[in-house]
Amino acid sequence: MSDETGPARADDAAPGAVTPTAEAPTAETAPAKAASAKGGGLTRRALLVGVGAAGGAGAMFAAMGALGLVPESQDRNFTPPQRSDFSLTGRAAAEVVVIGAGVAGLTCAYELGKAGYDCTVLEASGRVGGRNLTLRAGDRLDELGGETQTAEFAEGVYFNAGAARIAPWMVTMDYCRELGVPVEIFVNNNASAYVYTRGMAAPARARAARADLYGYVAELLAKASNAGALNRRLTADDRERLAEFLRRFGDLGPDLAYRRDSRRRGFETYPGVGEGVPVGPASSMRDVLAAGTGRYVTMDFGYDQVMPMFQPVGGMDAITEALADAVGRDRIRTGTPVTGIRNLADGVEVTYRDGEGNGVVRADYCVVTMPPHLLARLPHNLGAPVTAALRTPVPVSAGKIGLEYGRRWWEIDDRIYGGASETDLDITHIWYPSYGFHSEGGLVVGYYNVEENAEAYTGLSHRERRNRALTQGKKIHGEKYRAELRSSVSIAWKRQPYIEGGWASWPSFDAAFDLLQRPAGRVYLAGDWLTHLTAWQAGAMESARRAVTDLHRRALQTTS
Ligand code: ALA
Repeated sequence: MSDETGPARADDAAPGAVTPTAEAPTAETAPAKAASAKGGGLTRRALLVGVGAAGGAGAMFAAMGALGLVPESQDRNFTPPQRSDFSLTGRAAAEVVVIGAGVAGLTCAYELGKAGYDCTVLEASGRVGGRNLTLRAGDRLDELGGETQTAEFAEGVYFNAGAARIAPWMVTMDYCRELGVPVEIFVNNNASAYVYTRGMAAPARARAARADLYGYVAELLAKASNAGALNRRLTADDRERLAEFLRRFGDLGPDLAYRRDSRRRGFETYPGVGEGVPVGPASSMRDVLAAGTGRYVTMDFGYDQVMPMFQPVGGMDAITEALADAVGRDRIRTGTPVTGIRNLADGVEVTYRDGEGNGVVRADYCVVTMPPHLLARLPHNLGAPVTAALRTPVPVSAGKIGLEYGRRWWEIDDRIYGGASETDLDITHIWYPSYGFHSEGGLVVGYYNVEENAEAYTGLSHRERRNRALTQGKKIHGEKYRAELRSSVSIAWKRQPYIEGGWASWPSFDAAFDLLQRPAGRVYLAGDWLTHLTAWQAGAMESARRAVTDLHRRALQTTS
């Protein structure tokens, strides 16, 4: 990520005005920099500030387009289109047909709506949200292949079957703030959860796994340093500072050995009036390495996984429901699978099916937010290179199962409040809920797996998936995991109609990726798969903002 600030921003400016930020690294190209360095040249920032002040955000959008300023990383400077952008030009906001009411499509319609664009959203399925899917009591889940499940959860229990966590730097948080969607912590790491490797007699607590790995790694490094192995790299002062850190990092004794009875490993019975009963001492370094429990230590090291993370209160679909409300429900037509997209000389034509037969929508522009592999199959006149590019990202399998229990045994028996257990089984993780603490029942995610592990479940019936997940999860939690189950729902995203994948992954961000950033005629594409934030709602939102910016810029420049 870069924290590049773009050419200009309007954070605290009056609507329509544009104020400069402090000078900061920009996306300026070398020639532009050279021009300004020579003196008489006008920097692009200065130009845009001037244009913005004189002509408002609309003129600035047009100038950005002329200068080729397209955001290349997270767009911190997004300025939504607004009605006043059209006032100087005298043009009316255009008609736009948006295909797909997932996060990308809803974000497009929401942002375009701010400037008065006349948006129609066609959604193939019977609901809005796409891969933002929260299941509650009574919700039906249809799968390709014919199986239908109905959630039988108790009141208040929900299952985020798709998107489930948000990092604080993601634009998703900005939409939650703007739309008034309350958020709460999503526990993404929990020292009390377990780590389990096939063949272990019993799962280890994450806290013990972490203590042992930190301890032994620190011991090795401290001893190596002490023996002079780092003398060429480190001064005596460096070595002393390193030793001091390693003693704390690894809980090392005076002999620089990991204290295998470190209290960091946790307790069978925690201290109270009595001193408590610690869990047994750590295994040898060799056994700890062989157990592979270090996987827990690194599970949240990624820039998109580190705590704190967030979720909307009451279910992830609070975001897409709020977006749909803001767009206007009357603009969203569910149950309308698109059957064709055509660029015309002066607009676009989108054909679709609905309950009454075939329909057609004509508009000035179209934004397609379908998954790329499904758009590639659709009749269209976007051109063969576009079709070939759409076939480049690879649909990835992903699946989850929600296991509902009438008793929150993970809190009561195991003292696990949110977070995940990590395994090398095909279930990969078990997630514990980050909501409803201490309520009567709750829902555990019995697997969240991808690729081959997800494929292993995708072809199964729900009953088979459930039985397999229970057999695996019992290895960590014992018989109650099966015996106390109340209800369950599973999802295989490859078998979700009109979606057919967890997400789509680029083998490399190549010319095909670049091609699809640009409109094909009057048809724009948007989706998480068109960003470097694949599989995140933030990717869908960033891509939507980009499509909206490009479309709006063009609409302001178009003479007809
Ligand atoms: N965004 C996906 C996740 O949170 C990949 O696991």
